[in-house]
Amino acid sequence: MKIIDPFCGMAIDDATAIFEALYNGTTFYFCSERCKEEFEKDPEAVLIMKAEREKLTEKERSESLEKMMDQVAHEMRNPLTSIGGFTRRMYERLPEVDPNRKYLKMVIEDVARLESMTRQLVEMKAMGVPRIEPSSVNDIIGEAIKLYEAELRDMNIEVRTELMDNPPTISIDRHKLTTAIGNLIKNAIEAMEKTPGVLRIFSRLSNENIEIVVSDTGIGIPEDKIKYIFDPFFTSKIYGPGLGLTFARRIVQEQKGTISVESELGKGTTFTVSLPLKYSEQ
Ligand SMILES: Nc1ncnc2c1ncn2[C@@H]1O[C@H](COP(=O)(O)OP(=O)(O)OP(=O)(O)O)[C@@H](O)[C@H]1O
Ligand SMILES: [Mg+2]
Repeated sequence: MKIIDPFCGMAIDDATAIFEALYNGTTFYFCSERCKEEFEKDPEAVLIMKAEREKLTEKERSESLEKMMDQVAHEMRNPLTSIGGFTRRMYERLPEVDPNRKYLKMVIEDVARLESMTRQLVEMKAMGVPRIEPSSVNDIIGEAIKLYEAELRDMNIEVRTELMDNPPTISIDRHKLTTAIGNLIKNAIEAMEKTPGVLRIFSRLSNENIEIVVSDTGIGIPEDKIKYIFDPFFTSKIYGPGLGLTFARRIVQEQKGTISVESELGKGTTFTVSLPLKYSEQ
């Protein structure tokens, strides 16, 4: 198995690694004696450095994936318009009884789905100009729940909100943030499709941040999948397309916030959106 030298960040094979050190019950492997010595001088500092490096790698990975997503959307738009347009024309010209009509109808529907996906991607990119206004997170939560009121009622999902009293106003793009929280609610509903459960949403203060927590009692996320859920097009659903969380994260990051997730398979999932109280456009 390949593991990472915590000091220099190089990938090494744990089966052949000869330099190792035990710290706090964990064995760390090194590519050289020097790396091991540096680690032993101040393990805590090295581990902080390692965490920072991993964060940066993750950031680069998600940025390049999102760049790819934008390019794909751009490249797909024109061909899709012509496939959809010509298919519709052929469909309309075929007599009602023609057996090929049903195939063309399938093509038209699939193209429409792809078109809606590329539209979402392009809109996402176009939503560049933020409309920042003083807002209350409680109002945003209320608006986001309203977006899915019908589904929540129809599916017998119990909604429990615990909203903080007199939340401080924060300057954010209220409309976008409502979309982001809405995407989390939509996922929670879909995760409780088979067994209707409880959707808990609360707002709270935590240090210099306001947190919005969206928690469900749904199917949960397998441990090996959780690191991919924010990636564009990652989905476990038939008609994904797997953009809800990509958008939610982008929006939250635009507001200088963070989004994190905890999940237990079969028990449920909790997303925490954390927004700085002092939002500043740097
Ligand atoms: N609350 C949740 N419970 C269980 N799984 C979840 C939850 N939220 C996200 N996931 C997993 O993460 C995947 C990605 O979510 P995301 O919202 O990005 O895409 P999607 O819901 O599949 O499609 P879209 O949101 O574009 O309609 C989901 O397909 C699902 O597997
Ligand atoms: Mg979704």
